[in-house]
Amino acid sequence: MIRFGLIGAGRIGKVHAKTIATNPKAKLAFVADALPQAASDLAAAYGAKVASVDEIMKSKDVDAVLIGSPTGFHAEQIQAASNAGKSIMCEKPVSLDVPTIHETLKVVEKNKSTLMIGFNRRFDPNFAELERRIRAGAVGDVELVTVISRDPGPPPLSYIKGSGGLFRDMMIHDFDMARFLMGEEFTVVNALGSALVDKAIATEGGDVDTAAVQMQTASGRIAVITNSRRATYGYDQRMEVHGSKGMLSARNIHNTTVELHNGNGTQADPIQNFFLERYGQAYADELNSFIAAVETGKRDPRPSGHDGLQAQILADAATESQKTGKPVKV
Ligand SMILES: NC(=O)c1ccc[n+]([C@@H]2O[C@H](COP(=O)([O-])OP(=O)(O)OC[C@H]3O[C@@H](n4cnc5c(N)ncnc54)[C@H](O)[C@@H]3O)[C@@H](O)[C@H]2O)c1
Repeated sequence: MIRFGLIGAGRIGKVHAKTIATNPKAKLAFVADALPQAASDLAAAYGAKVASVDEIMKSKDVDAVLIGSPTGFHAEQIQAASNAGKSIMCEKPVSLDVPTIHETLKVVEKNKSTLMIGFNRRFDPNFAELERRIRAGAVGDVELVTVISRDPGPPPLSYIKGSGGLFRDMMIHDFDMARFLMGEEFTVVNALGSALVDKAIATEGGDVDTAAVQMQTASGRIAVITNSRRATYGYDQRMEVHGSKGMLSARNIHNTTVELHNGNGTQADPIQNFFLERYGQAYADELNSFIAAVETGKRDPRPSGHDGLQAQILADAATESQKTGKPVKV
């Protein structure tokens, strides 16, 4: 039984609290949040205790710390948990600052801590199966990877202002998926971006809401990622991998498989609305993978701290490319 201290009782903290509480190998021991009410509400919902971040780090009744606080706190909380001898699962991104990621990974390395980063999409059963088939040779040599990721609607401007920008906040998942599917590092990044959904995202938030990125590996393989902060039809999450022997694709998941057929054509139910619905199974499988690593003492289960670093380097390159209008070598 792995006893968890959960840090952050917001949107993603609530998801993790539920997956921990419903996992037979896990126990939600403590919840910490900067807002006492948020911590006590979530703790009460799952029979856990409220604690401060510091108390979680020092507690002998905590084996693993799950970090779901805002991005700006991840690095210091990973380091504190590592120094306290805890296993760590931390939400993406590790930090918006690459030198801080290096410094954090050094601490983790020195303490030989187990660290996993919450790139949950790798655990989506469909995307995981797609990756397994690539590695089994179903499409031969991979030549083109296409990742489409569109949110149903933009977050509040206050969130955008502190997010580090679309490439670091949203597309970071897609950089990780492109690396995961390609199986080779990218060496060139070229990005375009605009604010087409809401002009205030550019004028007040200094960000874009619509973006396309092209990346190339040293051997010439190409990935294309497109993002939008708006999709009128739900949470659009699709992937396609083209290779020398064929093509693999994974479609969206609809609320039901029921379709209406009539003289006007065929109508399906809407696709699942957002990450809570779409990735419910992925979060559960992600936690199982982390628990297996803690139980067996595996130190860098994938997605590892290194995966967190590589995705951040690509996000930084895309941010620079979008601003300068030039491709960036990484
Ligand atoms: N993997 C995913 O699918 C996914 C989805 C959403 C968010 N995230 C990531 O999770 C993190 C949190 O995002 P969110 O949407 O849940 O945010 P949120 O604002 O809903 O929740 C964050 C919570 O942390 C609390 N908090 C603030 N400072 C704290 C501190 N120093 N220590 C402890 N708690 C603190 C806040 O009071 C709040 O309750 C972000 O880094 C985000 O990138 C990942």
